[in-house]
Amino acid sequence: MIALRPEQQAFFDPKPSAEHHAAPRLFLGLRVFPSGKNHRPVGSSDFLPHHHPERIRNGEWWRIMAGQETAVQANGSRQAIRFTRNGVPCEVAEFHPRTTLLDYLREQMRALGTKEGCGEGDCGACTVALGRMRDGRLVYEPVNACILLLGQIDGADLVTVEDLAQGGALHPVQEAMVAHHGSQCGFCTPGIVMSLFVLHEEGPRPLDKAMIDDALAGNLCRCTGYRPIRDAARAASAEPSATAFSASRTDRAAALSALDDGGDVFIGDDATFFAAPANLASLEALCAAHPDATLLAGSTDVGLWLTKSLREIEKIIWLGRVSELAALEEGEAGLAIGAMVSHARAHPALARLDPDLGELMRRFGSAQVRASGTVGGNIANGSPIGDLAPAMIAWGAKLHLRSAQGTRAMPVEDYFIDYGKQDRRPGEFVWKVALPPLPRDHAFRCLKVSKRFDEDISAVMGAFRIACDGRRVSAARIAYGGMAATPRRAGAAEAALIGADLDDPATWQAARAALAENYTPMDDHRASAAYRARVAQNLLIKALHEIAGEGSAQTRIIDNRAAGAQAAE
Ligand SMILES: Cc1cc2nc3c(=O)[nH]c(=O)nc-3n(C[C@H](O)[C@H](O)[C@H](O)COP(=O)(O)OP(=O)(O)OC[C@H]3O[C@@H](n4cnc5c(N)ncnc54)[C@H](O)[C@@H]3O)c2cc1C
Ligand code: FES
Ligand code: FES
Repeated sequence: MIALRPEQQAFFDPKPSAEHHAAPRLFLGLRVFPSGKNHRPVGSSDFLPHHHPERIRNGEWWRIMAGQETAVQANGSRQAIRFTRNGVPCEVAEFHPRTTLLDYLREQMRALGTKEGCGEGDCGACTVALGRMRDGRLVYEPVNACILLLGQIDGADLVTVEDLAQGGALHPVQEAMVAHHGSQCGFCTPGIVMSLFVLHEEGPRPLDKAMIDDALAGNLCRCTGYRPIRDAARAASAEPSATAFSASRTDRAAALSALDDGGDVFIGDDATFFAAPANLASLEALCAAHPDATLLAGSTDVGLWLTKSLREIEKIIWLGRVSELAALEEGEAGLAIGAMVSHARAHPALARLDPDLGELMRRFGSAQVRASGTVGGNIANGSPIGDLAPAMIAWGAKLHLRSAQGTRAMPVEDYFIDYGKQDRRPGEFVWKVALPPLPRDHAFRCLKVSKRFDEDISAVMGAFRIACDGRRVSAARIAYGGMAATPRRAGAAEAALIGADLDDPATWQAARAALAENYTPMDDHRASAAYRARVAQNLLIKALHEIAGEGSAQTRIIDNRAAGAQAAE
């Protein structure tokens, strides 16, 4: 076995560190449960070796479930979240709705291996793995604990860096990080190990550079440099994927399934609560009773309101247990994406519709952000620089909303009224977005320009749907993000493009110039107004060159799409 340096030991050591021995602090309002049975971790005698049974019995940080003692309200709602920590069933009651998973891990569970760097989902130092049952299979994904709320781990298996080494043996990715000198100061190391752990346990084989880079795009390392980290990832993937961890999957899945009671969760009182309704009817009723509550999907926007804007949100309704919102339907009628479908899940379906939608999703945030962030959250948030809205507007997608009063649908563009103002009535929530199939004589392009290629929000995002009659443009839908207070169509440019000849770029110039009538772009730290205006023009011309049939090797540095003018076929 590889010897660890003392500073590496701190990150990989499965034994309690000196910090773990510090006197436990009782979380305000954390219910201390009577001692349960001395539960053995599921499926292995040495899971969770640092969770000393005495501490667990004392109920200091969380409760190991030992029966059916969960408090239930008169209306039948469960008053605690239930999850498994490294396979061990646990529950937590009476926490403040704004508690982040990272704060809970570090301050209550004393799992100090998980670090806080940026506190806003950018650096990955806080990466942990969450496993959830999906179509009967337990799937692990990396998430940013700094912006995920504690209540969101209900129904999940939580795995942190402390949980990886088992029986004194490091996980293969930890071994490889040591062997390949993948850590210097080590601050990023737990997060990087967790991202590589998920890649190792869930990823395909063999791993290529692009897969490793995608997995690490949300993990910032300032001092080691990525070459040794990539080497470690590649070396670990050469090992068989069967690990002690993978051997325990069946037991973990069984433990999670046993927790699934299908009931509503409500923790707190009418003034301050974290609620997680279990179905559409419960959600509608709760939204009607509390139209002022903040709806929470993946928390990749809301989390920052708490950690950076310090907003004092008191009522949170998490949508993550409403299975009807997580439906993904692909068929002849097109693609319907439930509001709670994560970007990671939507990615393959969108890529099947159009390669540019696939590439947009690949570049959306990081693996951690795509695992938590949802399609519904991205649109509902109404950000002028959100990536999906312009793409959905140009595509011609419809947004479906729902409330106790019924359902309604609208073209996505109609949802955005003004900056921070959307057409969402009190008690209403986004249900799904539906993309119709694209007729064969329509071509689609969407192009994102950001300062950093990965893990960055757009400066400008342009989306184009062009129909042709022969080589003449017969219809156009053009939408941009980053060009106005809301994602918005370019009506003047669309009109100016009608009749343009795909073989004569001079006929495209009227549309290019008309963009100035449509937009007065923002001037901010991401880009100047002049830059945005120029980029928007260039993206239109680039899209037209591609649709006209020029090979995209001339218009893109990577990820060329097949040359050809669908619109002109
Ligand atoms: C590091 C990082 C990178 C990012 N990169 C990108 C990027 O590349 N492109 C991009 O567009 N965005 C990016 N984002 C922003 C964010 O990830 C997305 O907007 C994401 O889709 C938000 O979804 P969510 O599920 O996390 O929403 P949440 O944060 O949970 O909610 C966002 C808003 O939507 C509301 N809401 C959520 N669901 C519903 C619903 N069903 N009905 C009504 N209201 C609802 C919430 O109340 C809230 O107002 C990034 C964020 C971070 C932290
Ligand atoms: S602390 Fe930086 S992503 Fe969470
Ligand atoms: S090892 Fe120092 S930041 Fe990565």
